[in-house]
Amino acid sequence: MAGSANLNVMMKTARAAGRALSKDFREVEQLQVSTKGPGDFVSKADMSAEKLIREALMEARPSYGFLGEEGAEIEGEDPTRRWIVDPLDGTTNFLHGMPHWAVSIALEHKGQIVAGVIYDPTKDEMFYAEKGEGAWMNESRIRASGRNKMIECVFATGLPFAGRSDLPETLQDLARILPACAGVRRWGAAALDLAYVAAGRYDGFWERRLNAWDLAAGLVIAKEAGCLVEPLNPNGNILQDGELVVANEAIFDQFSKIARG
Ligand code: IPD
Ligand code: CA
Ligand code: CA
Repeated sequence: MAGSANLNVMMKTARAAGRALSKDFREVEQLQVSTKGPGDFVSKADMSAEKLIREALMEARPSYGFLGEEGAEIEGEDPTRRWIVDPLDGTTNFLHGMPHWAVSIALEHKGQIVAGVIYDPTKDEMFYAEKGEGAWMNESRIRASGRNKMIECVFATGLPFAGRSDLPETLQDLARILPACAGVRRWGAAALDLAYVAAGRYDGFWERRLNAWDLAAGLVIAKEAGCLVEPLNPNGNILQDGELVVANEAIFDQFSKIARG
């Protein structure tokens, strides 16, 4: 797809950040065996990727705002447009040398996500979409799956870690969903979970307690691929609450009903 100038800036920036992070990722494998461990190194990699992205985007579009995971929000001269960025989604995978992480860049206009890019450098998969232009992975159009039987569907989610208080709800979700479907995966990168639903690899996804940068790019990519995307609480707001349920159109009603409990 010949994207807009904004989309091209986003893809170019995601590739540049992906190159820098890939170099660091190779280094992490060496650090695994050191006694100090790679933790500090990874948080530096994360921050320098965000700096690279922030500088590139702000140079290209100086009037836009910027919200990234690692730094304070920058208000733009143009209050209607802002970038929403997770420089490295899947940090725990990255830290453990597991090749499943991504750079996520979204553009918000008047409260709506109008363009999104999710780049997985280790597989060289660039997922992207602009409102009204369909969803793409590299040169190919992507679409949600057509599976319409719960028992054949595979879903993705995130599991609470490190003593988070939403463990009971998540265990209840799993008790309802696991017996009804073909499997649930927890691969540790919400942006890629959304990209995979858009590409028809997963049939759906739900998660609580995400942040805007985890899901902003994935929202527009999933919608443009034909997925239905709703807040987990029907009266909620996905970007503000960070809770959502996404699935192909054929399974959405059945799945969302079970996911909502
Ligand atoms: C995390 C991942 C993970 C999700 C966590 C996020 P990070 O982002 O998206 O899948 O379950 O809630 O915080 O920390 O790797 O950028
Ligand atoms: Ca994230
Ligand atoms: Ca992150």
